[in-house]
Amino acid sequence: MKSSRCDILNLTDDICKVIRARRSVRTFDGRALTSEDREKLSAFMAEIENPYGIPVAFRLLEGKEHGLKCPVVTGTELYVGGKVSLQPHAFEAFGYAFEMLVLYAQFLGIGTVWLGGTMNRSAYEEAMELAEGEVMPCASPLGYPAEKMSLREGVMRKSIRADERLPFEELFSDRSFENPLTSEKAGGLSQPLEAVRRAPSAVNKQPWRAVVCDGTVHFYLRRSKGFGHSASLDMQRIDVGIALCHFDLAAEENGLNPVFFTEDPQIPADGDTEYIASFRIG
Ligand SMILES: Cc1cc2nc3c(=O)[nH]c(=O)nc-3n(C[C@H](O)[C@H](O)[C@H](O)COP(=O)(O)O)c2cc1C
Repeated sequence: MKSSRCDILNLTDDICKVIRARRSVRTFDGRALTSEDREKLSAFMAEIENPYGIPVAFRLLEGKEHGLKCPVVTGTELYVGGKVSLQPHAFEAFGYAFEMLVLYAQFLGIGTVWLGGTMNRSAYEEAMELAEGEVMPCASPLGYPAEKMSLREGVMRKSIRADERLPFEELFSDRSFENPLTSEKAGGLSQPLEAVRRAPSAVNKQPWRAVVCDGTVHFYLRRSKGFGHSASLDMQRIDVGIALCHFDLAAEENGLNPVFFTEDPQIPADGDTEYIASFRIG
């Protein structure tokens, strides 16, 4: 496959640093994107692929022109939306592809925040000109981060503990869900798994889990209680797609040659934990 992961890895010599530096940006400094940055983003968007091979299309959207509103975002009028045709794995593919764009923007010094809820969704959907069977799961503002975040953003981050993540050994297991995996025991996988742990997720719920078994990392979705989903919008599947993107990039950078596949290893898991995909190492 023509891999956009190689494109981004060729651009930055430290993707793990980019992943560590990323945080959601909702307060922008009011400057429009330079034409150079806009062109770079547009060129990258056209190349982004994902391991499912499901096409995800991106579009830059002028907020004023389309009446786009997002009450938590200030200081920019430019957005990017993504759309995908509804089919099995569409949300994981979308999460992977859109996060690739988020990380590339971060590399360029451009701020983003995944938006799936706090927006006038129908205006974004209309602006994306969805065809029959297509959905626009999420969008993001694009701009240069302000030096100081707004009070509103600060309060929001605190209320969802946006700077925190679950402990490593709660997210990752060794061979079975019963055996917690520590960062030390993970050896060469500790950095790629830490990259997963740093990933953004809707309301910071971190629904991704992984089991390491015989040189393979199996990813699961553990749904958060009370977090709704439907056939046409599944945020937590998107979250797992983001985690797959972080793992793939960090593992590739660490020379682990990750190979993507989907075949449920049938590791016993409780009812609300669902197998999503795996990476064979080496
Ligand atoms: C699929 C998805 C949907 C999200 N939707 C929103 C949203 O509607 N509004 C918002 O302000 N943040 C949204 N976020 C951002 C998360 O709140 C944020 O990623 C999380 O709190 C972790 O903070 P961080 O990104 O700064 O690490 C979303 C994130 C993801 C991955």
